[in-house]
Amino acid sequence: MDIKVAAKAPAKQTNACIVVPVHTASKLSGAASSINSRSGNAISRAIKRGDAKTDIGSSLMLFELDKISSDRVLLVGAGESNQASRAQFRTVCTEIANALQKSGAALAIIHLEKSVYVDSESAAWHASTLARILVDSQYQFTLHSKEKTPANRLKKAIFVVPEKEQRACATAARQGLAIANGQSLARDLGNLAPNICTPVYLAKKAQELAKTNSKFTTKILTEAQMSKLGMGAFLSVSRGSKQEGRLICMEYRGADKKKKPTVLLGKGVTFDTGGISIKPSASMDEMKFDMCGAASVFGAMRAISELSPKSNVIGVVAAAENMPDGDASRPGDVVTTMSGQTVEILNTDAEGRLVLCDSLTYVERYKPAAVIDVATLTGACVVALGKVCTAVMSNDDELADQLYQSGQTSGDLAWELPLWDEYQTQLDSNFADMANIGGSPAGAITAGCFLSRFAQNYRWAHLDIAGVAWKGGSEKGATGKPVSLLMDYVLNHA
Ligand code: BES
Ligand code: MN
Ligand code: ZN
Repeated sequence: MDIKVAAKAPAKQTNACIVVPVHTASKLSGAASSINSRSGNAISRAIKRGDAKTDIGSSLMLFELDKISSDRVLLVGAGESNQASRAQFRTVCTEIANALQKSGAALAIIHLEKSVYVDSESAAWHASTLARILVDSQYQFTLHSKEKTPANRLKKAIFVVPEKEQRACATAARQGLAIANGQSLARDLGNLAPNICTPVYLAKKAQELAKTNSKFTTKILTEAQMSKLGMGAFLSVSRGSKQEGRLICMEYRGADKKKKPTVLLGKGVTFDTGGISIKPSASMDEMKFDMCGAASVFGAMRAISELSPKSNVIGVVAAAENMPDGDASRPGDVVTTMSGQTVEILNTDAEGRLVLCDSLTYVERYKPAAVIDVATLTGACVVALGKVCTAVMSNDDELADQLYQSGQTSGDLAWELPLWDEYQTQLDSNFADMANIGGSPAGAITAGCFLSRFAQNYRWAHLDIAGVAWKGGSEKGATGKPVSLLMDYVLNHA
């Protein structure tokens, strides 16, 4: 979709829809008021009749109003003027997106007026949020369908904003669009079937992505190379699969060489059977989503490629498949990690932390300003926080707080869990430096504790996205989270 920002609505419009907010007040304001008077009070009459509602989450499409050049006018309920919360503004955006989607309009002229603004946020925030939600709402997964799904009819949106905000909003809308494009890549990779989306496939995708921006390079480590580095934990996972594992490094250098990079590290388990500690078969297909952390890193790198920010960001993906075969790891196996620490594998289904721990050691070579790992790591995270937010765990309070704030700004919510030393003893092993599981209490935290032992040499945060990365049931599919959280962090702090 093409998005433009203007200070005035264009005069000539074909197959368009004008979108105006209507508020709970006796008087109409802004664009709604001028359309109302030109059209012989069509809007105020619709409100009076009760057809148009002003509550947040409602909308009404009006057609062929008198003296209005556009075929459609969409009235969007926006509640009290200047009272919306961030979540309510996002609801307004989703309502606009859905109503446009259902209509046949090719062009949307959206009046983004001050009266809909959230008090604490800039005009730019509103433009970026609207752009992202409009484009993300259009997502369709088509990669496995022979017949082409009908293309989206909405081709272009023009945001009409106050003149002095035009430039800032144009930049912001471009960012929102790039983030939505990144989310779309993340959703595609997540939704792809696990017989197609293998570690080697992901490595090929990284090389393709690198071609889209000259500041991008990729480095891909094979199992033989990982073996030379002593990545015994990573390799203990992929050894049970015919699919070879890969450590995929995407380096984006948009700032001075001396500026320390931010590393985004994604868990890319392209299918998680559990290994010898095999999972029950119900819903096991959903374990194709066990590479959604990696997918979000790909999504962020795609947005970065599109925006070319002046920062250095390294996207790393630990790609492996967790299968049970004659060579698979056994419960009780002890492996030596790249850090030298030994791990007793008590449960082969706790494989995410095994591929991540060696990757965390590997990325020390980048001398990172911060490392953020993203992983569908534990079912316990879903028990603790549900499907509402990402869990953040960190060895740095400032970094944890920045990620929390990025969650608030982007609506891609995050909440911190503690990594207190009191939890570390749950990982004690009688036979190695640590076990790979910590028992059932606080399972998301003990997984974070395990990772923390490999992240002692830099600022680090762990994002457990098990609850948010995909939806089940009739809406089954990848969400593209937490691409917008990561991008908010990258654009503001990297
Ligand atoms: N990929 C799973 C985590 C998961 C499970 C995410 C279900 C979302 C839904 C991970 O590899 C796993 O199996 N974790 C185990 C850890 C346990 C063995 C300590 C889990 O959560 O059961
Ligand atoms: Mn597992
Ligand atoms: Zn897993």
